[in-house]
Amino acid sequence: MSGKKGRGGGPDLRVDIGGGLSIRNPIMTASGTFGYGDEFADFIDLGQLGAVVVKSISLAPRPGNQPPRLQETPAGMINSIGIMSVGVDAFIRDKLPPLRKRGVPVVASVFGTSVKEFVEVTRRLDDAEGIAALEVNVGCPNIEKGTIFGTDRGLTTKTMRGVRRATRLPVILKLTPSVADVRPFAKLGEDEGADAISLINSIPALSIDIRTRRSRIHTGVGGLSGPAIRPIAVRMVWEAARTVSIPVIGIGGIATAEDVMEFLIAGATAVQVGTINFVRPRAAIEILEGLRVLLLEQGVRKMSEIVGTLRGMPAERGGVKG
Ligand SMILES: Cc1cc2nc3c(=O)[nH]c(=O)nc-3n(C[C@H](O)[C@H](O)[C@H](O)COP(=O)(O)O)c2cc1C
Repeated sequence: MSGKKGRGGGPDLRVDIGGGLSIRNPIMTASGTFGYGDEFADFIDLGQLGAVVVKSISLAPRPGNQPPRLQETPAGMINSIGIMSVGVDAFIRDKLPPLRKRGVPVVASVFGTSVKEFVEVTRRLDDAEGIAALEVNVGCPNIEKGTIFGTDRGLTTKTMRGVRRATRLPVILKLTPSVADVRPFAKLGEDEGADAISLINSIPALSIDIRTRRSRIHTGVGGLSGPAIRPIAVRMVWEAARTVSIPVIGIGGIATAEDVMEFLIAGATAVQVGTINFVRPRAAIEILEGLRVLLLEQGVRKMSEIVGTLRGMPAERGGVKG
């Protein structure tokens, strides 16, 4: 597929996700649901995706949480993987080179248990070759203290500021849904120099085994993801997109091209496909193909004709009248 025009003269799917980063289509994969990317190369041509976001990377290797770490729920699942990471140096040495060869923009997700760790991981990734952008994960709900970052405006500001100073790469701030109002967090991201906002991370949730009267997840509370969270994610994306002028990337329960359209109409410039990758490893590509067809059907020739075109929302909440 050539850069400007879509295949067979179809819609031009190219989008600009901030910081000068233009990707060939709006379909990205979500952190933690696509390994370090290369694992999926047997299933799909990674080069067709907009971008791959890798599992969050910590400074030192981390084993992640103890099992059980996954539990199916109606229309979703609860996970408590924790940040299971090879560590930043092993990522750069072992994981990045094979992925770089696949011809897909690599977004490295940064995680830390302190602002200092966020900054140090960022610095090391900034020195590596072949990373297109960084995503700052201040919202992982499963690590003790990790919760604090994304729910505390002061800490999120400090983290974003530190990361911004440590890199010239485009920075995406990934927000947690565990706040009463996501808008001030989106705004502080923009004010502190984020090039884009992505949301949402998983939602804290509890599933109980009534016989043992224990949580089905070792750490107790885990993060809910999958179709169950999609309407919440669409609402939050809409709120964030009305608040900032940088691109917003929508995440949460996407399983079909129709789901992607909802996020785009709500104001997302691009999306990330998460939990569905576990169910259908080819999902991201199938969704991309479906999106091309849907856009063609609706007469959309370029992405700006669909992004943020929600109609009929009450004006006081910032909706477009229509
Ligand atoms: C098993 C699993 C592991 C995840 N690990 C991470 C992670 O390391 N970093 C991160 O920012 N988000 C992580 N997430 C959150 C996803 O990237 C995404 O924000 C969330 O699952 C909502 O999207 P979905 O419903 O499409 O999965 C993880 C999600 C799942 C299900």
